[in-house]
Amino acid sequence: MSEPLLKVDDLRVEFDTRHGRVTALDGVSFDLMPAETLGIVGESGCGKSITALSLMGLIPSPPGHVTGGRIEFEGNDIAAMTKRRQRQMRGHDIAMIFQEPMTSLNPVFTIGDQIAEAILLHQDVSRGEARNRSIELLKTVGMPEAERRARAFPHELSGGMRQRVMIAMAISCRPRILIADEPTTALDVTVQAQIFELMRGIQEEFGVAIMLITHDMGAIAEMADRVAVMYAGRIIEEGDADEILDNPLHPYTRGLIGCIPLLGKEARDDGRPPKLAEIPGVVPPLHLLGQGCSFADRCPLVHDRCHREKPLLTGSTHCVACHATQMEAA
Ligand SMILES: Nc1ncnc2c1ncn2[C@@H]1O[C@H](COP(=O)(O)OP(=O)(O)OP(=O)(O)O)[C@@H](O)[C@H]1O
Ligand SMILES: [Mg+2]
Repeated sequence: MSEPLLKVDDLRVEFDTRHGRVTALDGVSFDLMPAETLGIVGESGCGKSITALSLMGLIPSPPGHVTGGRIEFEGNDIAAMTKRRQRQMRGHDIAMIFQEPMTSLNPVFTIGDQIAEAILLHQDVSRGEARNRSIELLKTVGMPEAERRARAFPHELSGGMRQRVMIAMAISCRPRILIADEPTTALDVTVQAQIFELMRGIQEEFGVAIMLITHDMGAIAEMADRVAVMYAGRIIEEGDADEILDNPLHPYTRGLIGCIPLLGKEARDDGRPPKLAEIPGVVPPLHLLGQGCSFADRCPLVHDRCHREKPLLTGSTHCVACHATQMEAA
């Protein structure tokens, strides 16, 4: 078996808040293999974006602090690399596309110029060459009338087109890893299907490994080879996507899978994803996380031990962090 492209080990991120120091990532570990799609799934606030941002070295500080853990890219510890190599890696080897393209695109430049800028930042080509490449890239991501659209400003495009622009920018330097943070949340289902198809095509063509962040198990079912399910800053279940979808072990994962029909449902008024029908309650705020399992208050299988002790992630290929499930298996 090949070596992981990215190895994340025991990552910890804390934030200073008005409630004091809170732990947003509490020992997150996972591997990303070459050319695979790893889905990171969980409800709002469980730490998906913070995981992605820490890989990119983008945790805002203050108030954020990376207080532990190790990230290896192709076997090399990122923290031990020179700043120059780190910068080159983030943006060149690892590219990220964000949930809301409007916030990452500059409203006063045409999209052609912005893609060309991204190319010039990391590659030694002339401005003219970069401009031609940006049109090629727009064609690659299926932008209709690419030459004309290259001269458009972000607000002149639809949400789906803007997301295509983001993908074009992200793949402009042929990254080894593409992190996609809720790339389709703001889009309707048909456009979502097109963007997923585009991502699959790019993966096939360039062999890029994709980390797909989503709150939606439907997207996982469609895209992911492997899945890490997050809850309150920890991974609580991990394994092959087919195995987890067929045989979820954690009550939280079962609840998320029960929500798959929500795929076509509209977001709430404030833009957050629809409420999970199958799991009562909400993710507890970070400052209220106690010593026990963070899911205990919502869990149908809860017992005494769950309130006292955090369950550890155990297993070899299909891992789960749940006292009830682990007891059953023992
Ligand atoms: N700048 C910050 N200051 C304090 N807490 C923060 C900050 N950024 C994130 N957090 C906290 O870290 C936790 C994880 O946030 P994160 O953005 O990773 O959630 P998420 O899983 O991406 O959610 P969503 O699905 O809504 O995007 C949340 O509880 C959030 O409140
Ligand atoms: Mg997020």
